[in-house]
Amino acid sequence: MTKPNIPHIPLSTSLYHIFQFVKNPIPILQAYHEQYGLTFMMKLGGTIPSIISSDPAFAKHVLQKNHRNYRKSLVQTKHLKNFLGNGLLTSEGPYWLRQRRLIQPGFHKNRLQAIVDIMNQVTDRFLESLTEKVRYKSELDISPEMMRLTFSIVAESLFSTSVKEKELDYLSEVVTTIQEFIIKQVRLPFLNPWFKISGAFAKHKRLSEEAGEVVMKYIQERRESGEVRDDLLQMLLDSCYEDTGEGMSNQQIRDESFVLFVAGHETTANALSWIFYLLSKHPDILEKIKAEEKEILNGHKPSFDNLPKLSYLTQVIEESMRLYPPAWITDRVALEDDEIEGVFIPKGSIIVPFIYGVHLAEHNWPEAKKFDPERFNKATQKERPGFKYLPFGGGPRLCIGNSFAMMEMQVVITRILQSFHFELVKHQTIEMEPLITLRPRYGIKLLLHPKATS
Ligand code: HEM
Repeated sequence: MTKPNIPHIPLSTSLYHIFQFVKNPIPILQAYHEQYGLTFMMKLGGTIPSIISSDPAFAKHVLQKNHRNYRKSLVQTKHLKNFLGNGLLTSEGPYWLRQRRLIQPGFHKNRLQAIVDIMNQVTDRFLESLTEKVRYKSELDISPEMMRLTFSIVAESLFSTSVKEKELDYLSEVVTTIQEFIIKQVRLPFLNPWFKISGAFAKHKRLSEEAGEVVMKYIQERRESGEVRDDLLQMLLDSCYEDTGEGMSNQQIRDESFVLFVAGHETTANALSWIFYLLSKHPDILEKIKAEEKEILNGHKPSFDNLPKLSYLTQVIEESMRLYPPAWITDRVALEDDEIEGVFIPKGSIIVPFIYGVHLAEHNWPEAKKFDPERFNKATQKERPGFKYLPFGGGPRLCIGNSFAMMEMQVVITRILQSFHFELVKHQTIEMEPLITLRPRYGIKLLLHPKATS
């Protein structure tokens, strides 16, 4: 097979860095970029040859321009599919396209009005419990709190009030356990035979099937009761395929719901944690958000109608996801030989759009490390070509929940700022932990003080 004509990281170099790489691949990849340029080839984990690129043109090519020549890698499809079933995130080809066409309209901005009400209701309860928690000890790690909140938001957006507290905790626990197991499978692929022999694989499969039964119960109950609600489950139940006029089976809805649970909470939770971190480091920017809140909401809850008016907050969220993209990397496999920007791509190559690298390359963003929400003001937004900024991916597989996530972050940040003063706990180590999503490795500890209510 002819090799791509790009710099290769010598195997000895990548093996030399392997332990650091397993702990945190980002600094190593960044260092290679500095030495070898925006696009290079290396053997990931010392074995799988992959083309890693922080060049927006590479991302655009594989995700959009010639997306038909690329499929998702086994990591994204097979491993996840084992436990989640065949939903939007894990399916490919004609089945994926049919599902995407069916479900996409339900996630359109204008269809999310009722969901914003649910977001507010869940946040009400969250704020009560947070106030209780910080009553005696104001120090708190915001990261697990954001996980809990975003999981509840996605669960109640799916099943509105029919989710029982205990079942919510159970589902959240199962989803977390399964995700941790998938990370182990991806990070330590040589242990996969052991996972099968030791029964670990079967144990996690059983867990996912049991949780699937809980989800299935909600679907059956709703279908049988004939009750109509304003939530995502209703949208999934009501959507009909254009060609047949029929809807999805319960099993299909179960799989899609499972995928939404997994895809729809951890990314948003991480984004929120990093945003609170950045705001605690940039009081001037925090003050501007507060001024906007005062002008537009003046202490009232944000609503579907006034969320679009919170434009400075939107800029802050966007800039935070540039510096800390929750989905920091993605990958695709070439189905046939191809060429990108003059680089020959042999069939079977793995192309890795390194989203973090794209966002942090000086070549793409001058003074890239600086937190500057003005990069996203209306004037500059028009000048910015796509794919220099891709927190939600791009092309036909662009995140289906992007409007959902943006609204959710606006609601959560505004409501927390309306209810609490906060500052960063001093002398803590803040470090990125790039797993499937970009987590804070040791959490982010804040001191939270409830605001006096009038
Ligand atoms: C800040 C929050 C979020 C970020 C950064 C994010 C990021 C992404 C990215 C980068 C992809 C594309 C992956 C690829 O092409 O390889 C994706 C896909 C997806 N996301 Fe999100 N996401 C977020 C929130 C959500 C939410 C809230 C939901 C649902 C409620 C969701 C549901 C999905 C689904 C179903 C897919 C697969 C779409 C498809 O392949 O057709 N995401 N997301």
